[in-house]
Amino acid sequence: MLVTMSQLFNKEKYFAWQAPSNIALIKYWGKKHFQLPMNPSISMTLDSSLTKTYLWYEKKASEQRKVEFHFEGKENPSFLKKIILHIELLEKKFPILKKFSFKIESENTFPHSAGIASSASSMAALNLCFCSILKENDCIEESDFFQIASELSRLASGSASRSLFESFVEWGIESEKFATPLHSYHEDFQTLCDAILIISKEEKSISSRAGHSLMENHPYSKVRYDNAKNRTKKLLKVLKEGDWQSFIRIVEQEALELHAMMMCSSPSFILMKPNSLKIIELIKSYRESSGLNICFTLDAGPNIHLLYPEKIKNEVSFFIERELKIFLDNGMWIDDKIGKGPISLL
Ligand code: PMV
Repeated sequence: MLVTMSQLFNKEKYFAWQAPSNIALIKYWGKKHFQLPMNPSISMTLDSSLTKTYLWYEKKASEQRKVEFHFEGKENPSFLKKIILHIELLEKKFPILKKFSFKIESENTFPHSAGIASSASSMAALNLCFCSILKENDCIEESDFFQIASELSRLASGSASRSLFESFVEWGIESEKFATPLHSYHEDFQTLCDAILIISKEEKSISSRAGHSLMENHPYSKVRYDNAKNRTKKLLKVLKEGDWQSFIRIVEQEALELHAMMMCSSPSFILMKPNSLKIIELIKSYRESSGLNICFTLDAGPNIHLLYPEKIKNEVSFFIERELKIFLDNGMWIDDKIGKGPISLL
């Protein structure tokens, strides 16, 4: 399908990027001003949960600018609307973009409607394409490329700012405007794997935009932001030292606290399902009985990310197949791991 598009528009210029999704270990939940986080966050970049985006562009034929968008071969009006708003925002920073019309094709490598948020990978891939146009037109320097891509991605989706870099990434320590890769972490964490256990493929019942705004008048927001700041400091140390026990404690506390915030906001909402709790219990008791270093985290949804080092992959795969699979939607899980960040597809 994508080949057909490129053949169709081969007289125009195009850029293509793939960008990974990421899973937050310290969660961003609550924002201020324009998409700036209330607390720092730390994420792990994924390897095989990716968005591939192809962006063709040409000088506008008239004053009227055209933007076309296809997701997995089909028109997607609601995403197109978001993209147009985002382009209008980018134009304020980089007026040169006003000169062009765009055709955008995008696809995810993870199964469609698996209940996995794709805004981080899709916004990172899209903004990398825009940055390629900006670089080609001498509006940005090579050395700032990924930092600017992170900043522009952040404007579309906060967590997308972290999808521009490999391995572990922080957002809100060096800068609130863009994310920065962590260079110093223990070899034990270099092979971290993430089994994404699909509890439900249903769409989220609340948008993350609405979720963030509920933190504004939340009775526990101050405690939450202080906890996240303290855990960020601790996790940086833990990642350097390879301290698994503290890693497990911090990561699980973060996941449960994120959901606790949702449960006691006004209005409140519960995104976990009974099977999310069942799986959390099974992971805890398997950890106790086996002594293996495994732990869970969750995004703003019911699915569980089971984190473990690669050296126990066989044991963990066996545990999932034997004990967890019956609680998963159609037995579905995605075998992912720590990843290397975006790649140009040209
Ligand atoms: O990037 P947003 O606005 O979709 O918010 C993401 C929020 C969480 O996924 C729950 C946490 C995070 O840091 O990724």
